[in-house]
Amino acid sequence: MDEGLSNTPQGVGRGQHVPVLLKEAIDFLAIRRGGTYIDCTVGLGGHSFEIAKRLGAPGHLIGVDKDPAALEIAQKLLAVESQGAGLNDDWPKVELIHGSFAEIANDQRPGTIDGFLADLGVSSLHLAEVVSAAARPMNSGKHRIHPATLTFQALRIFVNRELDDLRELLEAAPQMVKQGGRIVIISFHSLEDRIVKDAFREGAKQGHYELLTKKPVTASEEELERNPRSRSAKLRAAQRV
Ligand SMILES: C[S@@+](CC[C@H](N)C(=O)[O-])C[C@H]1O[C@@H](n2cnc3c(N)ncnc32)[C@H](O)[C@@H]1O
Repeated sequence: MDEGLSNTPQGVGRGQHVPVLLKEAIDFLAIRRGGTYIDCTVGLGGHSFEIAKRLGAPGHLIGVDKDPAALEIAQKLLAVESQGAGLNDDWPKVELIHGSFAEIANDQRPGTIDGFLADLGVSSLHLAEVVSAAARPMNSGKHRIHPATLTFQALRIFVNRELDDLRELLEAAPQMVKQGGRIVIISFHSLEDRIVKDAFREGAKQGHYELLTKKPVTASEEELERNPRSRSAKLRAAQRV
Protein backbone atom coordinates (compact mmCIF):
# COMPACT_ATOMS: atom_id res chain seq x y z
CA MET A 1 0.00 0.00 0.00
CA ASP A 2 1.16 3.49 -0.90
CA GLU A 3 1.97 5.58 2.16
CA GLY A 4 3.54 8.56 0.44
CA LEU A 5 0.85 11.22 0.56
CA SER A 6 1.99 14.74 -0.07
CA ASN A 7 3.72 16.71 2.63
CA THR A 8 1.80 19.71 1.35
CA PRO A 9 -0.74 20.42 4.07
CA GLN A 10 -3.98 18.95 2.81
CA GLY A 11 -6.63 21.50 2.02
CA VAL A 12 -4.19 24.37 1.46
CA GLY A 13 -6.04 26.91 -0.67
CA ARG A 14 -9.10 24.68 -0.68
CA GLY A 15 -10.86 26.17 2.33
CA GLN A 16 -13.21 23.54 3.75
CA HIS A 17 -12.81 21.34 0.67
CA VAL A 18 -10.54 18.69 2.14
CA PRO A 19 -10.37 15.67 -0.18
CA VAL A 20 -12.32 12.73 1.22
CA LEU A 21 -10.80 9.22 1.61
CA LEU A 22 -7.66 10.54 -0.06
CA LYS A 23 -5.21 7.88 1.10
CA GLU A 24 -7.70 5.07 0.43
CA ALA A 25 -8.48 6.35 -3.08
CA ILE A 26 -4.79 6.67 -3.95
CA ASP A 27 -4.01 3.22 -2.53
CA PHE A 28 -6.77 1.57 -4.55
CA LEU A 29 -5.79 3.38 -7.76
CA ALA A 30 -2.29 1.84 -7.44
CA ILE A 31 -1.03 4.48 -9.85
CA ARG A 32 1.54 3.42 -12.45
CA ARG A 33 4.21 6.00 -13.22
CA GLY A 34 3.81 7.09 -16.84
CA GLY A 35 0.20 5.93 -17.02
CA THR A 36 -2.94 7.68 -18.22
CA TYR A 37 -5.55 8.36 -15.54
CA ILE A 38 -8.81 10.27 -15.42
CA ASP A 39 -9.97 12.23 -12.42
CA CYS A 40 -13.65 12.38 -13.40
CA THR A 41 -14.48 14.99 -10.74
CA VAL A 42 -11.50 17.32 -10.34
CA GLY A 43 -13.26 19.73 -7.99
CA LEU A 44 -10.46 21.77 -6.44
CA GLY A 45 -7.85 19.20 -7.43
CA GLY A 46 -7.02 17.54 -4.10
CA HIS A 47 -7.13 14.00 -5.48
CA SER A 48 -5.73 15.17 -8.83
CA PHE A 49 -2.57 16.50 -7.17
CA GLU A 50 -1.82 13.16 -5.53
CA ILE A 51 -2.47 11.30 -8.79
CA ALA A 52 -0.33 13.69 -10.87
CA LYS A 53 2.53 13.46 -8.39
CA ARG A 54 2.71 9.70 -8.85
CA LEU A 55 2.44 9.80 -12.65
CA GLY A 56 5.59 11.85 -13.12
CA ALA A 57 6.69 13.51 -16.37
CA PRO A 58 5.85 10.56 -18.66
CA GLY A 59 2.27 10.39 -17.36
CA HIS A 60 -0.99 11.93 -18.47
CA LEU A 61 -3.78 13.13 -16.19
CA ILE A 62 -7.14 13.97 -17.70
CA GLY A 63 -9.19 16.00 -15.25
CA VAL A 64 -12.90 16.53 -15.81
CA ASP A 65 -15.47 18.69 -14.09
CA LYS A 66 -18.86 20.13 -14.94
CA ASP A 67 -18.05 23.24 -12.97
CA PRO A 68 -15.79 25.68 -14.87
CA ALA A 69 -15.13 27.74 -11.72
CA ALA A 70 -13.78 24.67 -9.90
CA LEU A 71 -11.53 23.83 -12.88
CA GLU A 72 -10.10 27.33 -12.89
CA ILE A 73 -9.22 27.14 -9.19
CA ALA A 74 -7.87 23.58 -9.56
CA GLN A 75 -5.58 24.66 -12.39
CA LYS A 76 -4.07 27.39 -10.21
CA LEU A 77 -3.75 25.19 -7.13
CA LEU A 78 -2.11 22.37 -9.08
CA ALA A 79 0.44 24.81 -10.55
CA VAL A 80 1.24 26.31 -7.14
CA GLU A 81 1.42 22.95 -5.36
CA SER A 82 3.57 21.23 -7.99
CA GLN A 83 5.98 24.14 -7.83
CA GLY A 84 5.90 24.16 -4.02
CA ALA A 85 6.68 20.46 -3.95
CA GLY A 86 9.57 20.94 -6.41
CA LEU A 87 7.88 18.72 -8.98
CA ASN A 88 7.98 21.00 -12.02
CA ASP A 89 10.50 18.76 -13.78
CA ASP A 90 8.59 15.62 -13.05
CA TRP A 91 5.04 16.71 -13.65
CA PRO A 92 2.70 14.88 -16.06
CA LYS A 93 0.73 16.35 -18.91
CA VAL A 94 -2.41 17.66 -17.20
CA GLU A 95 -5.44 18.20 -19.38
CA LEU A 96 -8.43 19.82 -17.68
CA ILE A 97 -11.72 19.37 -19.52
CA HIS A 98 -15.00 21.10 -18.82
CA GLY A 99 -17.89 18.68 -19.25
CA SER A 100 -19.63 15.69 -17.79
CA PHE A 101 -17.64 12.55 -17.06
CA ALA A 102 -20.32 10.65 -19.00
CA GLU A 103 -19.31 12.37 -22.26
CA ILE A 104 -15.59 12.16 -21.56
CA ALA A 105 -15.81 8.44 -20.77
CA ASN A 106 -17.47 7.80 -24.10
CA ASP A 107 -14.79 9.82 -25.93
CA GLN A 108 -11.86 7.63 -24.83
CA ARG A 109 -10.23 5.13 -27.16
CA PRO A 110 -10.94 1.61 -25.84
CA GLY A 111 -8.36 0.17 -23.46
CA THR A 112 -6.23 3.31 -23.14
CA ILE A 113 -6.88 4.30 -19.52
CA ASP A 114 -4.90 2.90 -16.56
CA GLY A 115 -7.51 3.95 -14.08
CA PHE A 116 -10.02 6.52 -13.04
CA LEU A 117 -11.46 8.10 -9.95
CA ALA A 118 -14.91 9.62 -9.49
CA ASP A 119 -15.43 11.46 -6.20
CA LEU A 120 -19.11 12.17 -6.62
CA GLY A 121 -20.68 15.20 -5.08
CA VAL A 122 -22.42 18.20 -6.38
CA SER A 123 -20.83 21.56 -6.68
CA SER A 124 -22.60 24.14 -4.57
CA LEU A 125 -22.44 26.39 -7.62
CA HIS A 126 -24.59 23.98 -9.59
CA LEU A 127 -27.06 23.53 -6.72
CA ALA A 128 -27.06 27.31 -6.20
CA GLU A 129 -27.91 27.67 -10.24
CA VAL A 130 -30.61 24.97 -10.08
CA VAL A 131 -32.46 26.58 -7.20
CA SER A 132 -32.33 30.09 -8.55
CA ALA A 133 -33.43 28.97 -12.03
CA ALA A 134 -36.39 27.17 -10.43
CA ALA A 135 -37.35 30.21 -8.40
CA ARG A 136 -37.34 32.64 -11.35
CA PRO A 137 -40.69 31.83 -13.03
CA MET A 138 -42.68 32.08 -9.79
CA ASN A 139 -42.90 35.85 -10.08
CA SER A 140 -44.58 35.86 -13.46
CA GLY A 141 -47.71 34.43 -15.05
CA LYS A 142 -51.23 33.81 -13.74
CA HIS A 143 -50.75 30.23 -12.49
CA ARG A 144 -48.18 30.58 -9.84
CA ILE A 145 -46.59 27.40 -8.59
CA HIS A 146 -45.27 27.29 -5.08
CA PRO A 147 -41.52 28.00 -5.08
CA ALA A 148 -40.84 24.87 -3.02
CA THR A 149 -42.58 22.71 -5.68
CA LEU A 150 -40.47 24.22 -8.43
CA THR A 151 -37.32 23.84 -6.40
CA PHE A 152 -38.02 20.17 -5.61
CA GLN A 153 -38.84 19.45 -9.26
CA ALA A 154 -35.62 21.09 -10.37
CA LEU A 155 -33.58 19.22 -7.76
CA ARG A 156 -35.16 15.89 -8.73
CA ILE A 157 -34.31 16.45 -12.39
CA PHE A 158 -30.80 17.50 -11.42
CA VAL A 159 -30.24 14.42 -9.24
CA ASN A 160 -31.68 12.10 -11.91
CA ARG A 161 -29.31 13.57 -14.48
CA GLU A 162 -26.39 13.00 -12.10
CA LEU A 163 -27.45 9.37 -11.62
CA ASP A 164 -27.76 8.89 -15.40
CA ASP A 165 -24.26 10.31 -15.86
CA LEU A 166 -22.94 7.86 -13.28
CA ARG A 167 -24.66 4.93 -15.03
CA GLU A 168 -23.14 6.03 -18.36
CA LEU A 169 -19.68 6.29 -16.85
CA LEU A 170 -19.96 2.80 -15.37
CA GLU A 171 -21.27 1.39 -18.64
CA ALA A 172 -18.28 2.80 -20.55
CA ALA A 173 -15.76 1.74 -17.88
CA PRO A 174 -15.00 -1.87 -18.96
CA GLN A 175 -14.14 -0.66 -22.48
CA MET A 176 -12.12 2.39 -21.38
CA VAL A 177 -9.84 0.76 -18.84
CA LYS A 178 -6.80 -1.40 -19.67
CA GLN A 179 -6.36 -4.87 -18.26
CA GLY A 180 -5.14 -4.47 -14.69
CA GLY A 181 -6.45 -0.90 -14.54
CA ARG A 182 -8.33 0.35 -11.50
CA ILE A 183 -11.69 2.05 -11.01
CA VAL A 184 -12.39 3.91 -7.78
CA ILE A 185 -15.71 5.54 -6.98
CA ILE A 186 -16.55 7.56 -3.87
CA SER A 187 -20.25 8.17 -3.39
CA PHE A 188 -22.21 10.12 -0.82
CA HIS A 189 -25.70 8.70 -0.88
CA SER A 190 -27.31 5.32 -1.07
CA LEU A 191 -28.76 5.73 -4.58
CA GLU A 192 -25.29 6.34 -6.00
CA ASP A 193 -23.70 3.60 -3.95
CA ARG A 194 -26.35 1.11 -5.13
CA ILE A 195 -25.60 1.97 -8.79
CA VAL A 196 -21.86 1.47 -8.25
CA LYS A 197 -22.34 -1.76 -6.30
CA ASP A 198 -24.66 -3.24 -8.95
CA ALA A 199 -22.42 -2.20 -11.87
CA PHE A 200 -19.32 -3.71 -10.22
CA ARG A 201 -21.14 -6.94 -9.32
CA GLU A 202 -22.56 -7.27 -12.82
CA GLY A 203 -19.11 -6.51 -14.32
CA ALA A 204 -17.55 -9.17 -12.08
CA LYS A 205 -20.19 -11.69 -13.15
CA GLN A 206 -19.36 -10.96 -16.78
CA GLY A 207 -15.65 -11.45 -16.10
CA HIS A 208 -14.68 -7.77 -16.53
CA TYR A 209 -13.71 -7.06 -12.94
CA GLU A 210 -12.18 -8.36 -9.80
CA LEU A 211 -13.85 -6.59 -6.89
CA LEU A 212 -11.29 -4.96 -4.60
CA THR A 213 -13.83 -3.94 -1.96
CA LYS A 214 -16.38 -6.52 -0.87
CA LYS A 215 -17.95 -3.88 1.38
CA PRO A 216 -17.60 -0.14 0.84
CA VAL A 217 -14.65 1.51 2.55
CA THR A 218 -15.64 4.33 4.91
CA ALA A 219 -13.71 7.07 6.67
CA SER A 220 -11.54 6.33 9.69
CA GLU A 221 -12.33 7.83 13.10
CA GLU A 222 -9.46 10.24 12.58
CA GLU A 223 -10.82 11.46 9.23
CA LEU A 224 -14.36 11.74 10.60
CA GLU A 225 -13.11 14.04 13.29
CA ARG A 226 -11.01 16.11 10.89
CA ASN A 227 -13.52 16.27 8.04
CA PRO A 228 -17.25 15.93 8.80
CA ARG A 229 -18.02 15.72 5.02
CA SER A 230 -16.44 12.25 5.05
CA ARG A 231 -19.29 10.93 7.25
CA SER A 232 -21.41 9.60 4.40
CA ALA A 233 -18.59 8.76 1.97
CA LYS A 234 -18.40 5.19 0.63
CA LEU A 235 -15.57 4.02 -1.58
CA ARG A 236 -15.76 1.03 -3.90
CA ALA A 237 -12.97 -0.17 -6.15
CA ALA A 238 -12.59 -2.73 -8.91
CA GLN A 239 -9.78 -3.95 -11.15
CA ARG A 240 -10.20 -4.65 -14.86
CA VAL A 241 -9.23 -8.25 -15.53
C1 LIG B 1 -16.71 16.21 -4.25
S1 LIG B 1 -16.20 17.26 -5.52
C2 LIG B 1 -14.66 16.60 -6.01
C3 LIG B 1 -13.54 17.02 -5.08
C4 LIG B 1 -12.18 16.62 -5.58
N1 LIG B 1 -11.96 15.20 -5.58
C5 LIG B 1 -11.10 17.31 -4.80
O1 LIG B 1 -10.21 16.62 -4.27
O2 LIG B 1 -11.12 18.55 -4.72
C6 LIG B 1 -17.23 16.73 -6.82
C7 LIG B 1 -17.04 17.48 -8.13
O3 LIG B 1 -17.69 16.70 -9.15
C8 LIG B 1 -18.22 17.58 -10.11
N2 LIG B 1 -19.25 16.83 -10.83
C9 LIG B 1 -20.44 16.38 -10.37
N3 LIG B 1 -21.08 15.68 -11.32
C10 LIG B 1 -20.27 15.69 -12.41
C11 LIG B 1 -20.36 15.11 -13.72
N4 LIG B 1 -21.43 14.42 -14.08
N5 LIG B 1 -19.34 15.30 -14.58
C12 LIG B 1 -18.24 16.01 -14.20
N6 LIG B 1 -18.09 16.58 -12.98
C13 LIG B 1 -19.09 16.41 -12.10
C14 LIG B 1 -18.73 18.75 -9.29
O4 LIG B 1 -18.83 19.90 -10.10
C15 LIG B 1 -17.68 18.86 -8.19
O5 LIG B 1 -16.69 19.80 -8.52
